[in-house]
Amino acid sequence: MKALIAAGGRATRLRPITWTINKHLIPLANKPMLWYVLKKVTDAGIKDIIINVNPGEVAEMSRVLGDGSEFGARVTYVEQRGGAKGLAHVVANAEEHLQGERFLFFLGDNIILGSINRFVERFQQENLDCMIALSRVKDPQRFGVAEFHPDGSLKRTVEKPQDPPSDFAVTGIYLFDEKFFEAFKTVAPSARGEYEITDVITWYIEHGKTGHEEITGWWKDTGTPDALIEGNALIMDDLPREAFCVACDVPDGAQVQGMVTIGKGTRVSPDCLIRGPVVIGEDCDIHGSYIGPYTAIGNGVKIHNSEVEHSIVLSGATIDTARRIVNSLIGQNATLVDSQRTHPKTGHRLIVGDNSLVEL
Ligand code: DAU
Repeated sequence: MKALIAAGGRATRLRPITWTINKHLIPLANKPMLWYVLKKVTDAGIKDIIINVNPGEVAEMSRVLGDGSEFGARVTYVEQRGGAKGLAHVVANAEEHLQGERFLFFLGDNIILGSINRFVERFQQENLDCMIALSRVKDPQRFGVAEFHPDGSLKRTVEKPQDPPSDFAVTGIYLFDEKFFEAFKTVAPSARGEYEITDVITWYIEHGKTGHEEITGWWKDTGTPDALIEGNALIMDDLPREAFCVACDVPDGAQVQGMVTIGKGTRVSPDCLIRGPVVIGEDCDIHGSYIGPYTAIGNGVKIHNSEVEHSIVLSGATIDTARRIVNSLIGQNATLVDSQRTHPKTGHRLIVGDNSLVEL
C-alpha cells in the first residue's frame, strides 16, 4: 500500500504564524506536526509515501522532513498543481503515483493519539473498497459528516452541512482502492467550487464496500491556535518517559521536576523552576524563570524573569515579562517584553503582524 499525505493549503486561521512557516511544519513538542503523521503511517507498515505540498515548497519540506529514511520509508514530494480545488483534487493531482494502488489518504493537520494499524488492517483483511474513520464532535458543521441509514449502515457523507445529519465527523484519515480515479471523474465541484472528498466517499458507499470505524481516542484537526496548543499538550502526555532527556548541565539550585527535555547548549540559571512535561530545545537561555507544564520551547529561545506555561514558543523568540504567559503560541523570533522595561514607562508598544491576537 501507498500513502498520500496532504500538506498544502494556506492555513489562514493560523496566520500570522503561517505567513513564514507551512502549518504542517509547526512543531508540537519540538517536532514538526508532519513527523507524527509519518510515524503513524510508517508504524502501520506503509513505507511508500507521497506528500502533497504547495508549489515552491518542496525544498523546504524535504529539508525539514527528509527522504523518509528516518522511518525506513521512501517519501516523494509532489507539488499541488491547478490551485486549491478541494481534497479530492489533491488526490487526483497525485494520480501518476497512486494509479492501480490501494492507498491511505491522510490530512497532514490531523493529529491522533493511538495507532491507525487496526484501521488499515481491517481495510486489507476485509478487502474493502473504501474505509473512513469517524469521530464524534460537538460542532459537526465544521467537518465532513456521516449520514446513516436506520440500520446503522452508511448512507452518504456530506461536507460542512448547515444541518448536520449526525454528530460523526469524517476525520482526515481515509483508505481507498484503485477505483478512486474512476469515482473522481463522476464528481462535480460543490457550491463552494471544490471537488469534495465527501462526494467521492458517497460514490464509494453507493458503488462498493465501504467500512467505517470510530476513533474513540483523541483526534484533532489542528487548524486553530487553540487546537495546536492542545495538540502540543496531548502529544507531551503521550510521549514515553524515555523520550525525555536533559542534555545540558543544570546548576545546583535549579529545580527540574517531572518529565523534562532540555537540549544541548541551553543555559539554565540556578533560580529557575522547570516543571514537566516540558520540552526545551538547544542553545536557549532560561534565566530566573518558571517554565510550567505542557510548554514546548524551540531552539535559541531566551526566557528571562518570566513565567510560561501550556504554550508553544518557536525558535529565536525572546520573553522577558512579569506577566504570566499561558495558552500562547509565540512565533519565530518574536519578542515579548514589559513596557516597564522600555521608555516611556506607560502604554504598550506593539509591532503585531496581520491576523495576530494580543490579549493585554
Ligand atoms: O479534518 C477533517 C476535515 O478535513 C474533514 O472532516 C473534512 O471533510 C475535510 O474536507 C477537511 O476539512 P478542512 O476544512 O479541515 O480542510 P482544510 O482546508 O483544513 O485542509 C485539510 C488538510 O489538507 C490540511 O492538512 C491542508 C491540506 N490541504 C488543503 C487544501 C485546501 C492541501 O494539502 N491542499 C489544499 O488545497
